[in-house]
Amino acid sequence: MRSPTSCCRAVRCGNSLLPTDNMQPACPFEPLDRLARFSWDWAPALCDTAHGCADYHRSWSLVRLLELGGALPAGQPFFTRELAEVARGSSRRVLVAGGADTGLTAMTIAAFRAQGSEPELVFVDRCRTTARQNELFAGHLRLPIDVQVCDAAAVDCAPVDAIVAHSFLHLLPHAKREEVIAAWSRVLKPGGRVVMSCAVSHAESDWVRAKDLAQVEQRRLGLQQRAGQAGFEPPVAAEIAATAARFWATSPGQAPALTQANLRASFARAGIEVRHIGLQGVEEVRGPLAITTRETSKRERAEVVAVRL
Ligand SMILES: C[S@@+](CC[C@H](N)C(=O)[O-])C[C@H]1O[C@@H](n2cnc3c(N)ncnc32)[C@H](O)[C@@H]1O
Repeated sequence: MRSPTSCCRAVRCGNSLLPTDNMQPACPFEPLDRLARFSWDWAPALCDTAHGCADYHRSWSLVRLLELGGALPAGQPFFTRELAEVARGSSRRVLVAGGADTGLTAMTIAAFRAQGSEPELVFVDRCRTTARQNELFAGHLRLPIDVQVCDAAAVDCAPVDAIVAHSFLHLLPHAKREEVIAAWSRVLKPGGRVVMSCAVSHAESDWVRAKDLAQVEQRRLGLQQRAGQAGFEPPVAAEIAATAARFWATSPGQAPALTQANLRASFARAGIEVRHIGLQGVEEVRGPLAITTRETSKRERAEVVAVRL
């Protein structure tokens, strides 16, 4: 078996590791084809079985590449707008808190490049697969990055000017959410901002996500077809689609559901003031959360800006 380091060299040398090299990701500087190959090959070894994340981390970059055209996480205009001031500043330290792959990091870098600058990145996730992908990605761009593989509440870094998060807080149990927000308060400079997107429910009791299994099956067949068209052998294309379908069929919700009220209260307890919550349609939520029933009436994607007092 190759080591993650040999894969790392392959990512850096610029070879496409997918069967065909005609897939153009939406973000031109994110080598998603090679990063997707890395997680497909290495997630079984790198993901911690106790976290149950292997199906997700193994297939997520491939789903982005093959099914979503390399799309970045939902909300790019919001992140670009709300990070602009930090991107124009003299100190540009950003903590990326939780990332299923390199998509959120790429979106953060794109927001800085829109202002003609580069961020100084800290990335935290408890999973080694996405952590390694982010190291490879930053190495490819020759950007400094401090990658921390630990619980998000244990992040420990020099003070940052901004924290970005996406589809993260609402997946944590309530007590863990509070710990993570307290950690954000510790590492954020006074006046520093949290810029995040996450699903908020109308009621704390609305945390169960009923999955539409017919829709999962339809999406599985579509992904299998696209993987085949991309040049994967039929058994591999079937395995990619089956892996993604397993995580689409899971329900990652936590009780109590994240609501605007409990989010504001948790931030306030940590000395962070929520300044803006903008609600977007839930159809804008991508990833493991997209396939659910009765979503539209009960949950929306919130774009949140909060400032450390
Ligand atoms: C749903 S994903 C983020 C999705 C986001 N839209 C994106 O594109 O990156 C959530 C991430 O949080 C990580 N995670 C979950 N619980 C964590 C914890 N307690 N500490 C650190 N990372 C955690 C998972 O490993 C996963 O990579």
